[in-house]
Amino acid sequence: DMGGHDTYMHKEIHEQADAVDRALRGRIDDRFSTVHLGGLNLDARDARAVRRVKILGCGTSYHAGQIGAQMIEELARIPADAEPASEFRYRNPVVDPDTLYIAVSQSGETYDVLAAVQELKRKGARVLGLVNVVGSAIARETDGGIYVHAGPEVCVVSTKCFTNMVVSFGLLALHLGRTRDLSVADGKRIIEGLRKLPAQIEEILAGEEQIEKLSKEYADAKSMMFIGRVRGYPVAREASLKLKEVSYIHAEAYPASELKHGPLALIEPAMPTVAIVPDDDLLEKNRAALEEIKARSGRILAVAHQEQEKADHTIVVPKNEDELDPILMGIPLQLFAYYTAKAMGRDIDKPRNLAKSVTVE
Ligand code: M6R
Repeated sequence: DMGGHDTYMHKEIHEQADAVDRALRGRIDDRFSTVHLGGLNLDARDARAVRRVKILGCGTSYHAGQIGAQMIEELARIPADAEPASEFRYRNPVVDPDTLYIAVSQSGETYDVLAAVQELKRKGARVLGLVNVVGSAIARETDGGIYVHAGPEVCVVSTKCFTNMVVSFGLLALHLGRTRDLSVADGKRIIEGLRKLPAQIEEILAGEEQIEKLSKEYADAKSMMFIGRVRGYPVAREASLKLKEVSYIHAEAYPASELKHGPLALIEPAMPTVAIVPDDDLLEKNRAALEEIKARSGRILAVAHQEQEKADHTIVVPKNEDELDPILMGIPLQLFAYYTAKAMGRDIDKPRNLAKSVTVE
């Protein structure tokens, strides 16, 4: 039942405020400015013993993991990174007993992720799951984990589950941080930020009409560039994947800092750029990148916390805490992908060549 929406994608985009609310419910501990994650199976001593975090997933879940790794580094100061699960399992990785491995998956059935988990377990590693589907294969094979509570996701293209994964990583980063050096005050700041998310998501979705109009302006593009820096880079990658999957427009994502090392050669009026421009300590750097693009007559659509003078159009999103901004900045671009695909008459819920879960090698 699509409840009045024309596609599951549209319905699921609109379910995100409720989904995030569900991910937070019952988990916040105001007294100690931390969170309780029931199924984690990691006591304070275990958490303190973690020397590195390695996150494994595919597609959108891998992108959520990239944001998660940054959150864990920022809030818990534990070195963390994400890698596609399939790459990991084929390169005979060094498996380290002091590393906490986290497998991320909506379905919990993705074969490459499951195989990576099994290989890790065989080598004696500690593996947690960050999974949506309760009781799925990956949830069962891992030593513990976090359910992301996005609810059923039907559209082949992941939207609300991505958002809930990133929120869940925020919870985990806060939890790990509070077993280490994250102060009570910073814990409180993050909790307040998390609590603001559902209302801020509603605010973004209320701006849907502007995004629909913008998608028509850019739907003639054969190819689009997505850029972001540090926190904004995985947001750009995910937005680029979303556009590709549903509209079949070619899109590339680059760190904004890499533009001048090659991709700037592609910039011209027929190659628009979508830029993630959060109002954080990298704002000036990002503005400089917009200027470089403008100087090559590139069209720019910015997703930012304030109007960007150098951009042709800006989608203004509400500001949260710097560390949590990536959760919100991708949401307008889910709508952008949706409306672009709709204008092109695409089969939005079932894009060609794709399956909801990839249970084969
Ligand atoms: O079920 P999973 O999260 O393990 O699936 C991983 C990818 O196959 C999935 O995210 C895919 O990239 C989606 N089509 C993204 O929209």
